Formats: sequence, C-alpha cells, structure tokens
Amino acid sequence: MNREAALSLVKSQMTEHRYHHTLGVVETSIWLATLYGANPVKAELAAIFHDYAKFRSKEEMKEIIISQGMSKNLLEYNEELWHAPVGAYLVEKEAGIKDGEVLDAIRYHTSGRIGMALLEKIVFLADYIEPGRHFPGVEEVREAAKEDLEYALFLSVRNTIQFLMKKNQRIYPDTFYMYNDLLGSIKQK
Ligand SMILES: [Fe+2]
Ligand SMILES: [Fe+2]
Repeated sequence: MNREAALSLVKSQMTEHRYHHTLGVVETSIWLATLYGANPVKAELAAIFHDYAKFRSKEEMKEIIISQGMSKNLLEYNEELWHAPVGAYLVEKEAGIKDGEVLDAIRYHTSGRIGMALLEKIVFLADYIEPGRHFPGVEEVREAAKEDLEYALFLSVRNTIQFLMKKNQRIYPDTFYMYNDLLGSIKQK
C-alpha cells in the first residue's frame, strides 16, 4: 500500500485531531529512523497505522482480544491499552500489512515491553514526542531524543508511569518491564 492510500484509509478511521497527531508521529518516526539506522519506510508505515483502532468501540476491542487469544489480563487494565494490540490485528486483516516488525511496532506502542526492537522503540518514542504533544517534561525528552534513543525512551516511560501513578491508575506489567529493561541498559553506559 502506498503512502497516500495508507493515509486516506487511516484518516477515515479517526478524528481530525487524531489524524493530525498521526502525521506528527509519522514525521517524528521517519526522523528517528534516519537518525538511529532503522528502516524509514517501515517506520513510516508503522506510524501511519499506529492508532488505526483508536476509535473502535470498547465492545469490538474486547471481542477481538478474547477471540484472538490476546493476553486476557489486558481486560483488567485501562482500555487505553487495547487499541494497540487490537490495531495490529486489524491492520493486518483490513489493510493487508503483513510485516511482523511493523505489526509489533503497532502492537507495543502503548504498553512497551521488555527487549523492544528498534522499530518498536522509535514508534513508542515518536508517539510521545511528536510536535503536537504539549505536556510537562516533553521538551527534555525531545532534547534527549537527538542524542540518545535509549535514554529518551527511558524518560518517556518513566514519565508515563509517574503520570499514571499520580492518577492512581493501574500500570500494565509490560510497561514496568520496559522501564526496568531500559534502566539496566542506561546504567551500563
Ligand atoms: Fe495509541
Ligand atoms: Fe498515538
């Protein structure tokens, strides 16, 4: 699928505001891929589709999580997490994207996980720092992203965990695993 077709499919699935965010993630993912030696074409494709399932109903997402045998405990956590694995499934089914690296970057863009692949890291970070994001601490992460992918990613997951904890929200275990994993790798430097 070419860029224009992919963008128009994605645009049909979301609000104007979310589409604008998607374009920011696309631009930032291509920049990070070029900077850190990932495949920019795959980074672009994963970024275009990363929020594909964002506006599916809670019922549809729940049904897919159960019928596709996705980690059942997802249902015990905030539904914010669901659109990522459900998105990976729907993007394969409805848009015909078969590339496993691209699908994993979509699948883990919200929760993160231990041992993330380069493309997964890029989309996760781009989702956090794209130009449309404005929240406390984002500028520090943007600056770090120019120099050190792992450290920027660490800051983004640390900030996310702190933010969720302040709101007394549950933290998905994969997010803690990502945090611990990155803490290990940045301490070794
Ligand atoms: Fe998302
Ligand atoms: Fe996003």
